[in-house]
Amino acid sequence: MGGSTPGGGAQYTILSPAAHEETVLLYKSVKGMHDLIPPASKLWSKIEKTAQTLFESFGFQKIVTPIVEEADLFMRSVGETSEVVQKQMYVFKDKKDKTLCLRPEGTASVARAYVEHRLFHPEPYQKLYYWGPMYRYERMQQGRYRQHFQVGVEVFGSADPRIDAETIYVLSQFYQKLGISNFQTEINSIGDATCRPKFRDLLVSYFKKYEKDLSEDGKLLLERNPLRLFDSKEEAIQKICQSAPVITQHLCVPCKTHFEAVQRALTQLNVSYHVNPHIVRGLDYYCKTAFEIVSGGLGAQNALGAGGRYDGLVQSLGGPDIPAFGFATGIERLMLALEGTQEPGYDVDVFVCALGEKAQAFAFGLVNKMRMQNISTEVDYEDRALKKQMQKADRMNARYVLIVGDTEIEKGEAVLRNMKTKVQKDISFSNILEVLQREILK
Ligand code: HAM
Repeated sequence: MGGSTPGGGAQYTILSPAAHEETVLLYKSVKGMHDLIPPASKLWSKIEKTAQTLFESFGFQKIVTPIVEEADLFMRSVGETSEVVQKQMYVFKDKKDKTLCLRPEGTASVARAYVEHRLFHPEPYQKLYYWGPMYRYERMQQGRYRQHFQVGVEVFGSADPRIDAETIYVLSQFYQKLGISNFQTEINSIGDATCRPKFRDLLVSYFKKYEKDLSEDGKLLLERNPLRLFDSKEEAIQKICQSAPVITQHLCVPCKTHFEAVQRALTQLNVSYHVNPHIVRGLDYYCKTAFEIVSGGLGAQNALGAGGRYDGLVQSLGGPDIPAFGFATGIERLMLALEGTQEPGYDVDVFVCALGEKAQAFAFGLVNKMRMQNISTEVDYEDRALKKQMQKADRMNARYVLIVGDTEIEKGEAVLRNMKTKVQKDISFSNILEVLQREILK
């Protein structure tokens, strides 16, 4: 990610250390973990508000779970042979020798909380959404970080294929509301406990024919989790995958019927999608529908968001047999997809330039009244010359400047200057708040 441009297109980044030669950087943020600073934080807040409004209008309620969980939770749910658990988890012991970790994803945590708080009682159907940091010790590249944020939803208590389609629809609507249109929805069914083991055997016998062409990693995948071979970036493996059997042709009748119904519902919702039988997902809890939304402009890490059905997870964590479906989308990848598309906007509505003791006293009361009317306001208490204050207003990216000096105090009027058009007008103290509100709403 590049440098931050004050007042310009927001980027999720920090200023490069070289830009501050007068600073000795004693500490830097840990590799793969980023500070979120203005102006990028403005876009971040917009994404958060858009998610909240949209998800709540679909009936999702917020859930917040701790960042630290027992490591075993993810071994059981995400899977001991998964790359996330094998290679990427931040695992540590606490003072009582308990094995804990920084959560690598949100679904297992939310399912754990659903079981722990008996959220299935009396009504199993629950729709929850979350926002927060996830941790994966991954090789870094654009769009792949060791701390990343996800916003996600989980629907518990319905096996209906319309829930799969509706939830995929929510995610596509979220992207559209943010102004992202360059994305593609790829769906697959990865079967269930009836058909997947049979398909797995079929796949193993197919790949065995090419075992000599597989790398050590490929051989390990073949032994432990052959479906994941479809996800491999190795060219040789990808070539072998091209003629491999595909799961969509080996689904049992209930999985096939479910997948067809999901597709009909997606069509009804006008979601354009593409069936990609090579989507397998890296987390073991999935069954039936799995999907990814990819974006052309993101480079190698092109998955904006992903999810699927995980009917067995709640029961495997000690709860009742309750089906579920969900997705998560990475916030940093959204920031990248939206880079350069945002209007710069203003950081402050009004900067008050107060000149002289009386004006300073007047401004001190006024700015706090303005703030209480939701007019974002800044002021300079240093009692500097007008030119210096105007420069500060400019640096602070103010939309208006309100000038008050001794003359204005005597006249009972202030000067309001539009910083963009440079047009100035006098406004009476008696209706200052009213006028400002009107101007700012324009
Ligand atoms: P996931 O595909 O592992 O799924 O991650 C979801 C999204 O998080 C990805 O599509 C990507 O946008 C973002 N992401 C993942 N890893 C990184 C990373 N290292 N750096 C930046 N962004 C990243 C899950 O985590 C599932 N829990 C999704 C789900 C919810 N399934 C059902 N419900």
